[in-house]
Amino acid sequence: MRSWPLPFQPRFITYTTVVLITLLLLIDEIEFFPSVYAALLLLPFGALAVIGTIDLVQTKHAVLRNYPLTAHIRFILEEIRPEIRQYFLESEKDGTPFSRDKRAIVYQRAKQALDKRPFGTQNDVYASGYEWLHHSIAPKAAVKEAFRVRIGGPDCARPYSASVFNISAMSFGALSPNAIRALNIGARKGNFAHDTGEGGFSAYHRENGGDIIWEIGSGYFSCRNGDGTFCAEKFEANARNDQVKMVELKLSQGAKPGHGGVLPGAKVSPEIAAARGVPVGVDCISPSRHSAFSTPIEMLQFIAKMRELSGGKPAGFKLCVGHPWEFLAICKAMLETGIYPDFIVVDGKEGGTGAAPLEFTDHLGMPLREGLNFVHSALIGIDARDRIKLGASGKIVSAFDIARVMALGADWCNSARGFMFALGCIQSLSCHTDRCPTGVTTQDRSRQRALIVPDKAERVFNFHRSTIESLAELVAAAGLDHPDEFAPAHFSRRVSPNEVKSFADLYPPLEPGALIAGSADKRYAGAWAMASAKEFRALPLAA
Ligand SMILES: Cc1cc2nc3c(=O)[nH]c(=O)nc-3n(C[C@H](O)[C@H](O)[C@H](O)COP(=O)(O)O)c2cc1C
Ligand code: SF4
Repeated sequence: MRSWPLPFQPRFITYTTVVLITLLLLIDEIEFFPSVYAALLLLPFGALAVIGTIDLVQTKHAVLRNYPLTAHIRFILEEIRPEIRQYFLESEKDGTPFSRDKRAIVYQRAKQALDKRPFGTQNDVYASGYEWLHHSIAPKAAVKEAFRVRIGGPDCARPYSASVFNISAMSFGALSPNAIRALNIGARKGNFAHDTGEGGFSAYHRENGGDIIWEIGSGYFSCRNGDGTFCAEKFEANARNDQVKMVELKLSQGAKPGHGGVLPGAKVSPEIAAARGVPVGVDCISPSRHSAFSTPIEMLQFIAKMRELSGGKPAGFKLCVGHPWEFLAICKAMLETGIYPDFIVVDGKEGGTGAAPLEFTDHLGMPLREGLNFVHSALIGIDARDRIKLGASGKIVSAFDIARVMALGADWCNSARGFMFALGCIQSLSCHTDRCPTGVTTQDRSRQRALIVPDKAERVFNFHRSTIESLAELVAAAGLDHPDEFAPAHFSRRVSPNEVKSFADLYPPLEPGALIAGSADKRYAGAWAMASAKEFRALPLAA
């Protein structure tokens, strides 16, 4: 088939037209009447002609070589696609990871705006997956209660009375200095806890005196030797700080379990270097595994050491459940050594992160409810549940979310992205680019200034307070006195259009001591047999 010469084919016509106009304007300027108007037109057309020519000869983007100039429209639309979707197309129940509705409730509570909804639920209550809390015929009056939980087992000299709702681990580095400041002031005002995340106990965490849970990960930031190993002296010096209320060992987080991290040297500013205890400008590596221990028994001995070095503060660990036998190996190590952590935080696969590979965020790790139920049951199964408190995190932003996980065994909840919304995060999903539009997750000073600390600290405080007030209303409506009374039997889920199941059937716990006695429960029996206190690796099952 005969085709047009290349410059006149439809996909090149814009470029050809721009080049022709540029040439005509040039000839006009040089040969005929030089005019200001022609010169003014020459500038944009000349620039477009240059861009089009570069498109044509560059070798990186096939689409630009085939569609010089016009392909840029596609790139621009791709760039603003999330905003177009969010502003014009998203319904109240749309939007991921958090729907507009979920974000709105945080914004309203943070700003103390009207947080009620008109006309009735927009949920399809007959759709599979719909869940509800059972209310009482004899509800109680909602009380003004802070709802606190005492964390610290028999080996802990300085237990901590924590709120049931706290700020989940997020490092300085992932968050901006102003975000850390605002979170910590909010935590101080509302008397709840602020977890440092694994990036160290920074100057910004210390400025305002809010309660701190100091988390250490495999990089041992703020407590490491030059070679990246754990330094007991530095840990002791920081952990004994009065502001630190608990010390937490991070094994994994739901959004990227089993994945280490590298903060490129270019991003290791003097401030970050000081917080982490690493050299400025050198790649800062968080290995995927710990160097301070390699077996379940050693891990518990390390936690005991953390408790001792901190002067007897609650010491525990955070994980997203992976291989079931590995968690059961830790349980066996508890029985064998008599060392028990004071708390365990179970993070769900649905949890957030600053940046992670897609395969990890989408497909690694156990979702919160299954993980929490597993850990809760396993601790009951080794008769240790009464001495270890359980925290939970994973998309918890409303009072209903808190009540639901407390029914499944959590003693308290942490929220990361909920508090980010309170700081003004608009879910633009660019945390990994250092171009956060709201100053929450950027180290770029010109962007950080968007986050006004006193204003956002007030919002953090308001969000926490209003959520606890809503929780008090739920507790009262269910006829209870404290959220720790929520039990699986208080919740139901529609599992098909005409079948509903109680959480008590969906998430059955083990009988007390069942694992010690040799449980026949299929969910645990195989994994228990494969678990060894001496190694994380699975033991071969007897034939
Ligand atoms: C920006 C960001 C940074 C985080 N940094 C850490 C961290 O340093 N250590 C950690 O244990 N978890 C970290 N997390 C995970 C959260 O602490 C939390 O476990 C998870 O996001 C689930 O809570 P969410 O659904 O409320 O966000 C981070 C999460 C986010 C969003
Ligand atoms: S506004 Fe966007 S970039 Fe900033 S924290 Fe929120 S999701 Fe991340």
